[in-house]
Amino acid sequence: MRKIELNAIGLIHTPFKIREGMPIQPTGAKGVKGTIIIESEFVEGLKDLDGFSHIILIYHFHKLKEYKLTLTPFMDDKPHGVFSTRAPKRPNHIGFSVVKLNKIEDNILYIENIDVLDKTPLLDVKPFIPAVDVVEVDKLGWLEGRSEKMGSKIADSRFS
Ligand SMILES: C[S@@+](CC[C@H](N)C(=O)[O-])C[C@H]1O[C@@H](n2cnc3c(N)ncnc32)[C@H](O)[C@@H]1O
Repeated sequence: MRKIELNAIGLIHTPFKIREGMPIQPTGAKGVKGTIIIESEFVEGLKDLDGFSHIILIYHFHKLKEYKLTLTPFMDDKPHGVFSTRAPKRPNHIGFSVVKLNKIEDNILYIENIDVLDKTPLLDVKPFIPAVDVVEVDKLGWLEGRSEKMGSKIADSRFS
């Protein structure tokens, strides 16, 4: 397996200190405010990001060390292949969230609708662009009829 080393570009700060009871997607974290402190060496790259209302955060689920290829995700009581889920216990432990960007002050991003634990390492940030990031889908696999409920589901201890 090819090894890739990544550097965190910053840390995401949120009110969530434990996984149990927190939202599982940004749709369940409406109004939840957080900040991102960007490392000084990457601050130049933030130029012009403040023109976007929403951003894509790519981050590391840092509290997990192991992964499972078959697991039972929060949205079901039956097992599924990890890549057909958004579960955090995945190879590389990479997650992403589309959040609202309220403002940027120096190296601090003020965000809203954030669904990660406090001190989650940020790997990348990109502008959310509806014309390319929103597509029409015609299949939702095992989540058919359930995806809207992801906003009201809260995490339990299954991946802790
Ligand atoms: C189901 S994942 C989905 C996150 C993301 N929106 C995605 O689709 O990739 C969200 C859950 O991961 C867990 N989690 C969040 N931040 C974490 C972290 N830094 N380390 C480990 N688990 C975390 C919490 O249980 C949270 O409810």
